[in-house]
Amino acid sequence: MQAERRPAVPTIMRAMMTTLLGGLSPRQFLEEYWQKKPLLVRQAVPGFTGVVSRDTLFDLACDPDVESRYVRYQPDTPGSTWSVEHGPQTRGRLRGKKHPWTVLVQGLNLWVPAGDKLLHSFDFIPQARLDDLMVSYAVDGGGVGPHFDNYDVFLLQGIGQRRWQIADQDDRSLVEDAPLRILKNFKPAHDWVLEPGDMLYLPPHWAHNGIAIGECTTYSIGFRTPTAQELGSEFLAWMQERLCLDGVYSDPELELQADSAMIGPKMIDQIEQMLNRIRWTRKDVAEFVGEYLTEPKSHIFFEPPEKAISRKAFERTVKQQGFALDARSLLLWSEAGFHLNGEPVEFDAADRDMLAELAHRRSLKGGQAMSAGLLDMLYIWYEDGFGHPGEDHE
Ligand code: SIN
Ligand code: CO
Repeated sequence: MQAERRPAVPTIMRAMMTTLLGGLSPRQFLEEYWQKKPLLVRQAVPGFTGVVSRDTLFDLACDPDVESRYVRYQPDTPGSTWSVEHGPQTRGRLRGKKHPWTVLVQGLNLWVPAGDKLLHSFDFIPQARLDDLMVSYAVDGGGVGPHFDNYDVFLLQGIGQRRWQIADQDDRSLVEDAPLRILKNFKPAHDWVLEPGDMLYLPPHWAHNGIAIGECTTYSIGFRTPTAQELGSEFLAWMQERLCLDGVYSDPELELQADSAMIGPKMIDQIEQMLNRIRWTRKDVAEFVGEYLTEPKSHIFFEPPEKAISRKAFERTVKQQGFALDARSLLLWSEAGFHLNGEPVEFDAADRDMLAELAHRRSLKGGQAMSAGLLDMLYIWYEDGFGHPGEDHE
């Protein structure tokens, strides 16, 4: 499916920064709620009914390039109360009437510009922590069952109503042999019905259960929480490519062994000393983090322009209309410099502020001076499908 291009930004999203956190400033939200306790915001996005129609949502769910899950609850079916079908979905499945069901579409921000806008309205949390925008559509009674997630989530109600029950329970035991993670002993402590535009923030590990009241859609703004194990193994793989150790194993003092099959302690000593010379610096860590966090997910492919405009026409357009990163692109910076889509960015010091603006706002306004070096780089990004001429904000 081709991603929709150049949206008109819904007025709704421009106005919402004052209401999004229910009158709290982003700073207050971070201090009091983020990763600490849930927050229910009535009318976080007044007038919000979603960023896609039901038809578009179903088209996405049936598209093989789009990640989706169809979850059905069949209380009268012994042994298989819950079932999950991964996408692409079929239209027939999405007409099911017998049992409550829901369909969840991942990465909506990649396909629908207004979804990308919605996701980035949460940029008061660093972009390095943002994951993606998921949308779920459910028929009456549909949901994914009581569960907990390992990440923070903002659950924003689109059309219809959804009842959310939540609890901060220690008992995280799961139903065995279920095709999705369902809590065995869910004991709701709070119970709310969310209306269109209402939003519930949940920290990681809070148990929750969302049940559709009539047909409804829910937009989930999800965050990344890489595990130490994942970071460790990715870092070691990254280090492996940069490893440069000299020396060769040698044993001029080799003594006769009674048993030739034994790996002797002196051999282990020497190898331990060699391996103890593996070192990394903070600079290595910062470079790894920049590359790792901006690396596109494996199913993401950029679409270079079918017929690229010339470098000259590009310069004219960008100077007038600006430049915007593609929804699939991630440009971050740190003490290790800038990283775009898993690669370090080489740039002139004079272009630093411009790049920082592009990273932060994800677009550059037209009508400002840009160096030839910066334009050359943006042109290469354009040819790779990493960004497009024309700014894409307010
Ligand atoms: C849903 O939208 O039904 C599920 C969202 C969640 O529980 O994280
Ligand atoms: Co959840």
